[in-house]
Amino acid sequence: MSEPAQPAVAPKKLAHRTPAFDKLARLYCWMEWCTFGPWLQRCRCSFLGEIGDCRRGIVLGDGDGRFTAQLLRINPAIEIDAVDASAAMLQALKRRAAPHAARVHAHYADARTWQAPDPPCDLIATHFFLDCLTEAEVRALTQRLHGALSQSGYWLVSEFAIPEGAFGRWVARPVVWFLYRSFALLTGLTVRSVPDFAAALRAAGFTRRGRRSFLRGLLIAELWKKD
Ligand SMILES: C[S@@+](CC[C@H](N)C(=O)[O-])C[C@H]1O[C@@H](n2cnc3c(N)ncnc32)[C@H](O)[C@@H]1O
Repeated sequence: MSEPAQPAVAPKKLAHRTPAFDKLARLYCWMEWCTFGPWLQRCRCSFLGEIGDCRRGIVLGDGDGRFTAQLLRINPAIEIDAVDASAAMLQALKRRAAPHAARVHAHYADARTWQAPDPPCDLIATHFFLDCLTEAEVRALTQRLHGALSQSGYWLVSEFAIPEGAFGRWVARPVVWFLYRSFALLTGLTVRSVPDFAAALRAAGFTRRGRRSFLRGLLIAELWKKD
Protein backbone atom coordinates (compact mmCIF):
# COMPACT_ATOMS: atom_id res chain seq x y z
CA MET A 1 0.00 0.00 0.00
CA SER A 2 1.40 3.34 -1.00
CA GLU A 3 -0.39 5.48 1.57
CA PRO A 4 1.55 7.10 4.41
CA ALA A 5 1.28 5.46 7.85
CA GLN A 6 -0.04 8.65 9.45
CA PRO A 7 -1.25 11.15 6.85
CA ALA A 8 -0.10 14.69 7.53
CA VAL A 9 -3.19 16.38 6.14
CA ALA A 10 -6.63 15.73 7.58
CA PRO A 11 -9.49 15.03 5.18
CA LYS A 12 -11.26 18.07 3.82
CA LYS A 13 -14.04 19.13 6.19
CA LEU A 14 -17.59 19.87 5.09
CA ALA A 15 -20.51 21.69 6.72
CA HIS A 16 -20.73 19.12 9.46
CA ARG A 17 -17.38 17.86 10.68
CA THR A 18 -16.34 14.25 10.37
CA PRO A 19 -16.74 12.32 13.65
CA ALA A 20 -13.44 11.44 15.35
CA PHE A 21 -13.21 7.65 15.57
CA ASP A 22 -9.44 7.51 16.18
CA LYS A 23 -9.58 6.88 19.89
CA LEU A 24 -12.11 4.07 19.44
CA ALA A 25 -10.12 2.17 16.82
CA ARG A 26 -8.46 -0.34 19.16
CA LEU A 27 -11.59 -0.90 21.25
CA TYR A 28 -14.13 -0.85 18.46
CA CYS A 29 -14.22 -4.58 17.80
CA TRP A 30 -14.58 -5.35 21.54
CA MET A 31 -17.27 -2.73 22.04
CA GLU A 32 -19.19 -4.35 19.24
CA TRP A 33 -18.81 -7.86 20.65
CA CYS A 34 -19.88 -6.78 24.11
CA THR A 35 -23.05 -5.14 22.79
CA PHE A 36 -24.18 -7.09 19.72
CA GLY A 37 -22.06 -10.24 19.76
CA PRO A 38 -21.56 -11.66 16.25
CA TRP A 39 -24.64 -10.01 14.73
CA LEU A 40 -23.12 -6.92 13.13
CA GLN A 41 -20.49 -8.99 11.35
CA ARG A 42 -23.15 -11.49 10.24
CA CYS A 43 -25.14 -8.59 8.89
CA ARG A 44 -22.14 -7.09 7.03
CA CYS A 45 -21.23 -10.42 5.47
CA SER A 46 -24.72 -11.72 4.71
CA PHE A 47 -24.55 -10.99 0.97
CA LEU A 48 -20.98 -12.14 0.40
CA GLY A 49 -22.30 -15.14 -1.55
CA GLU A 50 -24.04 -12.83 -4.04
CA ILE A 51 -21.04 -10.60 -4.77
CA GLY A 52 -18.51 -13.33 -5.50
CA ASP A 53 -17.96 -12.13 -9.09
CA CYS A 54 -16.98 -8.59 -8.10
CA ARG A 55 -13.45 -7.56 -9.05
CA ARG A 56 -13.14 -3.97 -7.87
CA GLY A 57 -14.80 -2.63 -4.74
CA ILE A 58 -15.06 0.63 -2.83
CA VAL A 59 -15.68 0.33 0.90
CA LEU A 60 -16.68 3.62 2.52
CA GLY A 61 -16.20 4.13 6.26
CA ASP A 62 -15.09 0.53 6.81
CA GLY A 63 -13.59 1.32 10.19
CA ASP A 64 -11.27 -1.41 11.41
CA GLY A 65 -11.75 -3.43 8.25
CA ARG A 66 -13.46 -6.61 9.33
CA PHE A 67 -15.69 -6.64 6.24
CA THR A 68 -12.81 -5.77 3.90
CA ALA A 69 -10.57 -8.48 5.38
CA GLN A 70 -13.30 -11.10 5.03
CA LEU A 71 -14.11 -10.06 1.46
CA LEU A 72 -10.43 -10.22 0.46
CA ARG A 73 -10.15 -13.64 2.08
CA ILE A 74 -13.06 -15.25 0.26
CA ASN A 75 -12.63 -13.44 -3.07
CA PRO A 76 -9.00 -13.78 -4.22
CA ALA A 77 -9.58 -11.68 -7.35
CA ILE A 78 -11.07 -8.52 -5.83
CA GLU A 79 -9.20 -5.23 -5.24
CA ILE A 80 -10.54 -2.79 -2.68
CA ASP A 81 -10.37 0.97 -2.28
CA ALA A 82 -11.08 1.55 1.42
CA VAL A 83 -11.98 5.10 2.43
CA ASP A 84 -12.13 6.34 6.01
CA ALA A 85 -11.75 9.66 7.81
CA SER A 86 -10.00 8.02 10.77
CA ALA A 87 -6.27 7.35 10.38
CA ALA A 88 -6.32 4.92 13.32
CA MET A 89 -9.21 2.95 11.84
CA LEU A 90 -7.33 2.75 8.53
CA GLN A 91 -4.24 1.46 10.34
CA ALA A 92 -6.38 -1.25 11.97
CA LEU A 93 -7.86 -2.07 8.57
CA LYS A 94 -4.40 -2.39 7.02
CA ARG A 95 -3.25 -4.69 9.83
CA ARG A 96 -6.30 -6.89 9.40
CA ALA A 97 -5.98 -7.01 5.62
CA ALA A 98 -2.19 -7.45 5.71
CA PRO A 99 -2.19 -10.95 4.11
CA HIS A 100 -3.80 -9.34 1.04
CA ALA A 101 -2.01 -5.98 1.26
CA ALA A 102 -1.38 -5.76 -2.49
CA ARG A 103 -5.14 -5.71 -3.12
CA VAL A 104 -6.09 -2.96 -0.64
CA HIS A 105 -5.72 0.75 -1.33
CA ALA A 106 -6.42 2.76 1.80
CA HIS A 107 -7.57 6.37 1.42
CA TYR A 108 -7.57 8.75 4.36
CA ALA A 109 -10.36 10.96 3.14
CA ASP A 110 -13.83 12.29 3.72
CA ALA A 111 -16.12 10.02 1.74
CA ARG A 112 -18.40 12.98 1.04
CA THR A 113 -15.79 14.54 -1.22
CA TRP A 114 -13.52 11.63 -2.18
CA GLN A 115 -13.24 11.08 -5.93
CA ALA A 116 -13.61 7.45 -6.95
CA PRO A 117 -10.91 6.25 -9.37
CA ASP A 118 -11.57 5.14 -12.95
CA PRO A 119 -12.67 2.70 -14.29
CA PRO A 120 -16.02 2.16 -12.55
CA CYS A 121 -16.02 -0.46 -9.81
CA ASP A 122 -18.54 -3.29 -9.46
CA LEU A 123 -19.12 -3.03 -5.71
CA ILE A 124 -19.72 -0.22 -3.23
CA ALA A 125 -20.13 -1.24 0.40
CA THR A 126 -21.32 0.99 3.24
CA HIS A 127 -21.71 -0.85 6.54
CA PHE A 128 -22.97 1.19 9.48
CA PHE A 129 -21.52 4.24 7.76
CA LEU A 130 -24.46 6.05 6.12
CA ASP A 131 -25.79 6.62 9.65
CA CYS A 132 -22.85 9.03 10.17
CA LEU A 133 -24.26 11.27 7.40
CA THR A 134 -27.27 13.52 7.11
CA GLU A 135 -30.05 12.66 4.71
CA ALA A 136 -28.90 15.39 2.30
CA GLU A 137 -25.34 14.02 2.42
CA VAL A 138 -26.53 10.48 1.70
CA ARG A 139 -28.51 11.78 -1.26
CA ALA A 140 -25.50 13.67 -2.61
CA LEU A 141 -23.22 10.65 -2.08
CA THR A 142 -25.52 8.17 -3.82
CA GLN A 143 -26.02 10.54 -6.78
CA ARG A 144 -22.29 11.17 -7.08
CA LEU A 145 -21.24 7.53 -6.82
CA HIS A 146 -23.88 6.28 -9.25
CA GLY A 147 -21.39 6.97 -12.05
CA ALA A 148 -18.56 5.24 -10.17
CA LEU A 149 -20.39 1.91 -10.29
CA SER A 150 -20.52 -0.26 -13.42
CA GLN A 151 -23.93 -1.09 -14.89
CA SER A 152 -23.90 -4.57 -13.32
CA GLY A 153 -22.40 -3.39 -10.03
CA TYR A 154 -23.85 -3.71 -6.52
CA TRP A 155 -24.26 -1.31 -3.62
CA LEU A 156 -24.27 -3.20 -0.34
CA VAL A 157 -25.63 -1.51 2.80
CA SER A 158 -25.83 -2.57 6.44
CA GLU A 159 -27.66 -0.34 8.89
CA PHE A 160 -29.57 -0.10 12.09
CA ALA A 161 -33.31 0.13 11.60
CA ILE A 162 -36.43 0.72 13.66
CA PRO A 163 -39.01 -1.88 12.62
CA GLU A 164 -42.76 -1.36 12.89
CA GLY A 165 -44.50 -2.59 16.03
CA ALA A 166 -43.84 -2.95 19.74
CA PHE A 167 -40.27 -4.23 19.36
CA GLY A 168 -39.42 -1.22 17.22
CA ARG A 169 -41.08 1.23 19.58
CA TRP A 170 -39.85 -0.17 22.90
CA VAL A 171 -36.52 -1.76 22.02
CA ALA A 172 -35.07 -0.70 18.65
CA ARG A 173 -35.84 3.02 18.98
CA PRO A 174 -34.23 3.36 22.45
CA VAL A 175 -31.22 1.29 21.32
CA VAL A 176 -30.66 3.51 18.27
CA TRP A 177 -31.17 6.63 20.40
CA PHE A 178 -28.61 5.32 22.93
CA LEU A 179 -26.08 4.52 20.18
CA TYR A 180 -26.38 8.01 18.69
CA ARG A 181 -25.95 9.64 22.12
CA SER A 182 -22.95 7.42 22.89
CA PHE A 183 -21.22 8.17 19.59
CA ALA A 184 -21.99 11.88 20.01
CA LEU A 185 -20.07 11.76 23.30
CA LEU A 186 -17.27 9.52 22.10
CA THR A 187 -16.66 10.89 18.60
CA GLY A 188 -18.49 14.21 18.33
CA LEU A 189 -20.97 12.76 15.82
CA THR A 190 -23.64 15.39 15.19
CA VAL A 191 -26.13 13.29 13.20
CA ARG A 192 -29.04 12.07 15.36
CA SER A 193 -31.09 9.65 13.27
CA VAL A 194 -30.59 7.01 10.61
CA PRO A 195 -31.10 8.68 7.22
CA ASP A 196 -33.57 7.26 4.74
CA PHE A 197 -30.85 5.68 2.61
CA ALA A 198 -33.36 3.56 0.68
CA ALA A 199 -35.11 6.68 -0.63
CA ALA A 200 -31.73 8.19 -1.51
CA LEU A 201 -30.59 5.09 -3.41
CA ARG A 202 -33.92 4.90 -5.24
CA ALA A 203 -33.74 8.57 -6.20
CA ALA A 204 -30.19 8.07 -7.46
CA GLY A 205 -31.32 5.26 -9.80
CA PHE A 206 -30.82 2.07 -7.81
CA THR A 207 -33.23 -0.82 -7.19
CA ARG A 208 -33.21 -3.04 -4.15
CA ARG A 209 -32.48 -6.68 -5.03
CA GLY A 210 -32.27 -8.21 -1.57
CA ARG A 211 -32.98 -7.49 2.08
CA ARG A 212 -32.12 -9.49 5.18
CA SER A 213 -32.82 -8.57 8.74
CA PHE A 214 -31.26 -9.62 12.04
CA LEU A 215 -32.17 -9.20 15.69
CA ARG A 216 -35.87 -8.85 14.84
CA GLY A 217 -35.24 -6.07 12.35
CA LEU A 218 -32.85 -3.95 14.42
CA LEU A 219 -30.15 -4.70 11.82
CA ILE A 220 -30.70 -4.85 8.09
CA ALA A 221 -28.51 -5.73 5.15
CA GLU A 222 -29.59 -4.69 1.67
CA LEU A 223 -28.26 -5.36 -1.81
CA TRP A 224 -28.94 -2.69 -4.46
CA LYS A 225 -28.28 -2.57 -8.21
CA LYS A 226 -28.56 0.11 -10.84
CA ASP A 227 -32.02 0.30 -12.46
C1 LIG B 1 -19.82 3.60 12.94
S1 LIG B 1 -18.27 3.32 12.21
C2 LIG B 1 -18.62 1.91 11.21
C3 LIG B 1 -17.38 1.18 10.85
C4 LIG B 1 -17.59 -0.10 10.03
N1 LIG B 1 -18.08 0.19 8.70
C5 LIG B 1 -18.50 -1.07 10.69
O1 LIG B 1 -19.26 -1.72 10.00
O2 LIG B 1 -18.44 -1.22 11.91
C6 LIG B 1 -18.20 4.60 11.04
C7 LIG B 1 -16.87 4.69 10.30
O3 LIG B 1 -17.03 5.66 9.28
C8 LIG B 1 -15.96 6.59 9.34
N2 LIG B 1 -16.51 7.87 8.89
C9 LIG B 1 -17.47 8.63 9.47
N3 LIG B 1 -17.74 9.71 8.71
C10 LIG B 1 -16.92 9.63 7.63
C11 LIG B 1 -16.74 10.42 6.47
N4 LIG B 1 -17.46 11.53 6.27
N5 LIG B 1 -15.84 10.02 5.55
C12 LIG B 1 -15.12 8.88 5.73
N6 LIG B 1 -15.25 8.09 6.81
C13 LIG B 1 -16.14 8.45 7.74
C14 LIG B 1 -15.50 6.61 10.78
O4 LIG B 1 -14.16 7.03 10.90
C15 LIG B 1 -15.70 5.14 11.17
O5 LIG B 1 -14.56 4.37 10.87
